[in-house]
Amino acid sequence: MKDTFGRKIDYLRISVTDRCNYRCVYCMPEEGVEKREHDEILSLEEIEEIAAAAVSLGVRKVRVTGGEPLVRRGVVELCRRLRAMEGVEDLAVTTNGALLPAMAQELKAAGVNRINISLDTLRPERFAAITRCGRLEDCLAGLRAALGCGMSPIKINTVLIGGFNDDEIEDLAELTVRYPVDVRFIELMPIGHTVPFGPEAYLPVTVVKERLGDALEPAGTDGGVAKLYRLKGAKGRIGLITPLSCEFCGSCNRLRLTADGHLKPCLHSAEEIPVRGLHGAALRQAILDAAAAKPASHGALSAECRSRSARDMNRIGG
Ligand code: 5AD
Ligand code: SF4
Repeated sequence: MKDTFGRKIDYLRISVTDRCNYRCVYCMPEEGVEKREHDEILSLEEIEEIAAAAVSLGVRKVRVTGGEPLVRRGVVELCRRLRAMEGVEDLAVTTNGALLPAMAQELKAAGVNRINISLDTLRPERFAAITRCGRLEDCLAGLRAALGCGMSPIKINTVLIGGFNDDEIEDLAELTVRYPVDVRFIELMPIGHTVPFGPEAYLPVTVVKERLGDALEPAGTDGGVAKLYRLKGAKGRIGLITPLSCEFCGSCNRLRLTADGHLKPCLHSAEEIPVRGLHGAALRQAILDAAAAKPASHGALSAECRSRSARDMNRIGG
């Protein structure tokens, strides 16, 4: 499937729930998260049908995300079915890691090798503050569970927030020396509920390069959105992801399916195409329409120039 700018669209990110066991300050409001009724959310069968239609149109890579995907009942079985679909070459999960100690093994058995774990700080009190209710030790236990059952590649996603965790760049980067994992620093995006942060929070990830300086050597790209580097002798790599400058819009290959059944052509646009209740040719046409609706780029974002998305991140999928 090609969009109107000639980009190949072969990547579908599926948000299987907008619920989460955490309440990260940059992602969700603390309270008043609208409780969606069960029937407002796509059933696993509906997700499977939409994914299959997308795969028939050329999607080759699927990511299961949320909210926190591992709180959705039946998610392991969904992963198994997605992985087994003819045409799916790659299945990944993005998680906060808290439930991985209990679930890593069965996810691996279902065909999930590729896993991204969100981890913004290595200090317990900061972890509790940023997630509003999480425990650092659960996330680290999740990381060890993923390593222990042989998942690979494992990536750690760190949102870089000026004045919050920019003094931990060295410590977080050090994880790549200890473990065979990539640590990817992501610029904080001005989307949804990033209310507690002032302009100083929106740091360009180039500060990571400045901070680590000569210790970093270039290590190419991972075929995705990250620019990669390596600390000399490290097992894993360090990735820099720059959503603010939108320099990777030109090679954007993705569509996003929300848990309530809308395709988002672009993370930062308000445009959404409803697909719930569609089947067969009508469903395929809606997916093609979503690809055709992809804008050339989302335009630069900043503290002053916020995302046009009408949703918080937990209702889109990170
Ligand atoms: N800016 C950058 N990344 C975000 N995520 C959620 N909200 C934001 C934001 N405002 C990321 C989380 C996690 C994934 C689910 O989405 O860090 O890695
Ligand atoms: Fe949950 Fe991830 Fe959002 Fe944090 S960033 S509230 S862990 S979905």
